[in-house]
Amino acid sequence: MNDDLLQKITVRKLKSDDLDAIVEIDCRVLGTRRPSYWRQKIEEMGNEQLSKSLVAELNGKVVGFIMGTVSGWGFGVPNTIGWVDTIGVDPDCQKRGVATLMFRAILEEFKKDKVENIYTLVKWEAWDLMCFFKAIGFTRGDMINLEYKTK
Ligand SMILES: CC(C)(COP(=O)(O)OP(=O)(O)OC[C@H]1O[C@@H](n2cnc3c(N)ncnc32)[C@H](O)[C@@H]1OP(=O)(O)O)[C@@H](O)C(=O)NCCC(=O)NCCS
Repeated sequence: MNDDLLQKITVRKLKSDDLDAIVEIDCRVLGTRRPSYWRQKIEEMGNEQLSKSLVAELNGKVVGFIMGTVSGWGFGVPNTIGWVDTIGVDPDCQKRGVATLMFRAILEEFKKDKVENIYTLVKWEAWDLMCFFKAIGFTRGDMINLEYKTK
């Protein structure tokens, strides 16, 4: 882990102006440019009080983001749930602690809202995310993901 890099990183609230930077990081990670998808996601997360989304900046450039909200859910899940919806770090800055730094920061935001449990969903094949969440202390939860295929 490169501490020099982390010392230069600042974490702040995500703003709608960060859209282009997030689209760029996503494109560098997954190889597809999806501005409308991210615009909609930022709008959905937009409620200042519920959205806990943050970005990591290096020398004024956004190099990572974490999107999260505080919410309840149906099916008996109480109001004190923090959701980590998505996280991404610029490939040039990965494996240097940036995602961990952002998670610690969003954790503090969640705690201010008395969140006791944080949930996230990870695709089975997304091993980088799976390893990351495991490394920072996530374990398998007691919700089961069900799906029904219409075709
Ligand atoms: C998963 C991800 C967020 C991790 O970010 P990061 O800043 O590199 O993570 P950190 O440096 O804080 O890693 C902390 C720990 O997580 C684990 N980890 C992180 N990335 C890993 C990987 N690719 N493979 C295995 N373990 C990994 C390691 O244990 C690491 O600790 P270590 O460096 O001491 O070994 C980053 O790889 C990413 O953005 N991946 C793409 C995720 C995605 O598809 N997002 C949606 C579109 S942008």
